Amino acid sequence: MASLTIRKLDEHVKTYLRLRSAKNHRSVEEEVRVILRELIEGREEPLTPFAVPPGASPAAASTRTSAVPEASVTLIIGGGIAAFKSLDLIRRLKERRIEVRCVLTKAAEQFVTPLSVSALSHERVYTDLFDPQSEFDAGHIRLARDCDLIVVAPATADLMAKMANGHADDLASAILLATNRKILIAPAMNPLMWNNPATRRNVAQLQRDGVLLIGPNSGEMAEAGEAGIGRMSEALEIATATERLLRPPVPRPLAGKRVLITAGPTHEPIDPVRYIANRSSGKQGFAIAAAAQAAGAEVILVSGPVDLGNPQGVTVKRVESARQMLEQVQAALPADIAIFAAAVADWRVANEGEQKLKKTSAGMPPLQLVENPDILATISRLADKRPPLVIGFAAETEHLIDNAKTKLARKGCDWIVANDVSPSTGVMGGDRNTVHLISKNAENNGEIKVDSWPVMTKEQVAIELVAHIAKSVTDKSVDKSLEPAS
Ligand code: C5P
Repeated sequence: MASLTIRKLDEHVKTYLRLRSAKNHRSVEEEVRVILRELIEGREEPLTPFAVPPGASPAAASTRTSAVPEASVTLIIGGGIAAFKSLDLIRRLKERRIEVRCVLTKAAEQFVTPLSVSALSHERVYTDLFDPQSEFDAGHIRLARDCDLIVVAPATADLMAKMANGHADDLASAILLATNRKILIAPAMNPLMWNNPATRRNVAQLQRDGVLLIGPNSGEMAEAGEAGIGRMSEALEIATATERLLRPPVPRPLAGKRVLITAGPTHEPIDPVRYIANRSSGKQGFAIAAAAQAAGAEVILVSGPVDLGNPQGVTVKRVESARQMLEQVQAALPADIAIFAAAVADWRVANEGEQKLKKTSAGMPPLQLVENPDILATISRLADKRPPLVIGFAAETEHLIDNAKTKLARKGCDWIVANDVSPSTGVMGGDRNTVHLISKNAENNGEIKVDSWPVMTKEQVAIELVAHIAKSVTDKSVDKSLEPAS
């Protein structure tokens, strides 16, 4: 096989390669390899390295980006015996799909070689502030900012002193001064150095500056017979801390809780083809189900007939009538929280026709109505399986708050979400809602509290309600001793 000497290429080709490799954060050799690979795969990049080709194939673009790691770190390796642990750290970060670009201080090169660091990171390694190749396009600025986090491991006493005092006389310190990213440092030094008043001052200064620290741990030192605080945290500990900073865990305040929700209208049959219904779209109840699921709850949604798809991860029971809804609600108990957002028909037809009702000369058939079971009131008054927090809705067209307060007492629930459904508000079937949360909690000493929220989308109302529920559950503030009012 012929070998290619880049030095011997035409000047304009070299310029092009240098620009392109700098832009893609690759070595020139690696860039040549990529170009050849793309040529062979028929995915040639445009000749001007910074321009996007008109009509570039999205398929090709996605092929290229699909393998791109989700997060990237600039890892600065300081000069200490703990530098050998940073080789393991690179491996641990890459296992977590974190791209790592490494910078070695001059002292670090005494402990680990750029070759081994490059082999593990699969990237070129940066060592020199005045490297003409990487400084061609201000390499230290790119290393400082084209990443999500800067990790310094090991952070030596000297490197920390430079950071605390704003020095920038080598690549590592210049990057640390030029960055606008968070910095996590893993100090490693002899216990006497760690406890030295100068280091203590520097640590305090760095903490004031918002620099994050992991370790050091206590244990044996490399120096024979010495022990104390100063050992660098293990690679696994640093990798875990890095990942938590890059991908903070999503709060799941309702984890372990079972939430039961009703939504939508009910259809009360008149005969096999006709029914009594209302204008409820089910959007609010479905949004609450999605928000509760996102908060980590196990969610059972009992829904009347609506045109909405099942929210992800939610168990949905589809029903038609109020009686079917009650049945499914009872079957779903026990639950920690029950939210009754359905617009249940108050009445059903007692004399439901078995066949389609016909027009006759006798005139209109009389429809006899009977009251439907009140699902909310039934569940609120259960002796044994009453969920600790029961929430009802009150859709009113007048005297909103007063009617909702009366409803809270009449139904025996803990909270009522009251909303004005006058046609002028567009709430019924619409995407926005203006609600008032009326609650009777221990934290209010049994007093009724009215919390009026601004106009929001139904998704925002759902998120806000779930946040209130989460707070209440966490505070254990729902007073079980408060008797449901009769
Ligand atoms: O009495 P009203 O229909 O205004 O009460 C509304 C509240 O009661 C809502 O939470 C609704 O889901 C619930 N409800 C019920 N069963 C009924 C009627 C209403 O669960 N039959």
